[in-house]
Amino acid sequence: MNNIEQIIKEAFEKIENADSVSIEAVRLEYLGKSGALTSILKSLSQYSIEEKKQIGARANRAKVLIEEAIEIKKEKLKKCALDERLAKEKQDFSSSFYFNFSKGSLHPVLQTIESIGAVFKSLGFDVAEGPEIETDRYNFEALNIASDHPARDTQDTFYLEGTNNLLRTHTSPGQIRVMEKQNPPVKVIVPGRVYRNEASDASHSSTFHQIEGLCVGGNITFADLKSVLTSFAHKFFGRDLNIRFRPSHFQFTEPSAEADMQCFFCKGKGCRVCKNSGWIETLGCGMVHPNVLKAVNYDPEKYSGYAFGIGVERIAMLKRGIDDIRLFYENDLRFLKQF
Ligand code: PHE
Repeated sequence: MNNIEQIIKEAFEKIENADSVSIEAVRLEYLGKSGALTSILKSLSQYSIEEKKQIGARANRAKVLIEEAIEIKKEKLKKCALDERLAKEKQDFSSSFYFNFSKGSLHPVLQTIESIGAVFKSLGFDVAEGPEIETDRYNFEALNIASDHPARDTQDTFYLEGTNNLLRTHTSPGQIRVMEKQNPPVKVIVPGRVYRNEASDASHSSTFHQIEGLCVGGNITFADLKSVLTSFAHKFFGRDLNIRFRPSHFQFTEPSAEADMQCFFCKGKGCRVCKNSGWIETLGCGMVHPNVLKAVNYDPEKYSGYAFGIGVERIAMLKRGIDDIRLFYENDLRFLKQF
């Protein structure tokens, strides 16, 4: 009996100290064919019946205890091995290795679209988008620019061969698309990329961005247009700067105007940026032409509205003091990293 107790004690110690390889040797040493407990059970015949019962029961009990202890230890070793592997394979994404890759950010043109958009959203405008490939009808016809009208000359563009499609020259087709889809009231901005057949220089690019604005309803007047654009100018550039409206011409608005912001470099005093005029041209606008309302089956007797188109790069250049529009499209990180 004492011998069995001794065996259990010893086995437990060996199990405790075993690793995933030696645990099998420990099992064989005690429970294998010629293991310590097995030989005790084999030698029972030499004892009296009473002794057989006691020693046999005790030895069997010891066998179960040791088996259980080995199973538990094996589980523990498996778990340790997994933990060890996981620890080894763990990636520390906060380590300097990962942080050495510089983080990206929005392109300055997109940043400008977002901040202009945020101001108009705060003034109650929704946001819509239209396709960059347009048909002649959306880009010109429905906007009251007939195929023989000289206004087409100033908006020459790229045509897609073998189709009636073209790259849109402005975001104004967005007006038509929005109005075709819903009845008044309409209050929406349409940001997007536009194209012109234009040689590029410091202030011109064949690809640039605009934000269209459109508001149509009952009794919308030029006063509403002025008030919304003045609010925009004050919110975006600051209260101390004025905005002024000059008569202009667009086929799809009547009357039409261009709006100038007081130069925010010299605060209107006159400097190199504003060519000493104190004012900077920022957008085209006007009251939606009745022919445009008719083109989307809105009754011009019942509804009126205003529209405007803001040049995004122009605003970004003025606000950030950038003097060449081409910088936006060259993907030069030294330029882009500044924003
Ligand atoms: N679409 C005009 C342009 O690109 C701008 C504009 C928009 C003018 C809306 C009036 C109203 O020049």
